[in-house]
Amino acid sequence: MTQEQLKESVEYLKKRGFETPEIGIVLGTGLGQLIDHIENPIEAHYNHIPHFPLATVEFHTGKLIFGTIEGKKMVVMQGRFHLYEGYDFVDITYPIRVMHLLGIKKLFISNAAGAINLNFKKGDIMLIEDHINLQSGSPLAFRNVSEFGNRFVDMSEPYDVDMCKKIHAIAIREGISIQKGVYASVVGPQLETKAEYRMLKILGTDAVGMSTVPEVIVANHLRLPVVAVSVLTDECDPENLEPVNIQEILDIAAKAEPKMIKLFRELIKEI
Ligand code: HPA
Repeated sequence: MTQEQLKESVEYLKKRGFETPEIGIVLGTGLGQLIDHIENPIEAHYNHIPHFPLATVEFHTGKLIFGTIEGKKMVVMQGRFHLYEGYDFVDITYPIRVMHLLGIKKLFISNAAGAINLNFKKGDIMLIEDHINLQSGSPLAFRNVSEFGNRFVDMSEPYDVDMCKKIHAIAIREGISIQKGVYASVVGPQLETKAEYRMLKILGTDAVGMSTVPEVIVANHLRLPVVAVSVLTDECDPENLEPVNIQEILDIAAKAEPKMIKLFRELIKEI
């Protein structure tokens, strides 16, 4: 990755009308309904944006959408790149750097995740307060990283405290039940074994998924305030584990998504 490449990606988007977005949003697996809330949308397919990672077949729908929600300009990633698709850490976080260079001042991230904390239920929303990186790598482990910011990035407070407080207050005000907890990222794409779910619990994990942490690390590298929410799609009880059903995960994500949209819309109004 070079500064030149980033600039070319941004130039392409600016020419298409992506002008000075304030907020960036990453939509997780099964969480696509938010795009219906974007006014005056302009789309750019990942395949057409110079230097974006080349999309896989499965991933042909991935696009950046620019537009307004609650009167504020934003850029939304419909679909993200995952390690399990064969991309590397620098690839999957490239769009975060592009959105930052476009001018976003805040980043909202969403994902579908499994509940390790068995007090949490399928369909619950969990505000991510902290994370554990179990992906055995870093999006900052590349040679010229210091051209882009500090190499040794502080992670004592990776999630923006003010926005987390706001989301929590919004949830209470709107009657949306919300959990808080620690998200652990794994590579995937296989789901976890019972022994792995037991291990995750011992480690202090509340939810597990295959994304988000690299993006949050890069947001911190860029000093970009970030919040992240998980939509909990399955209960990872090692003593009563049922075979995974991806369709059910997608259905539960879709059913719970309106709560996430409400939280994001209200947060947009307040920041
Ligand atoms: N494990 C990992 N990723 C997931 C899960 C899970 O149980 N559920 C949804 N994404």
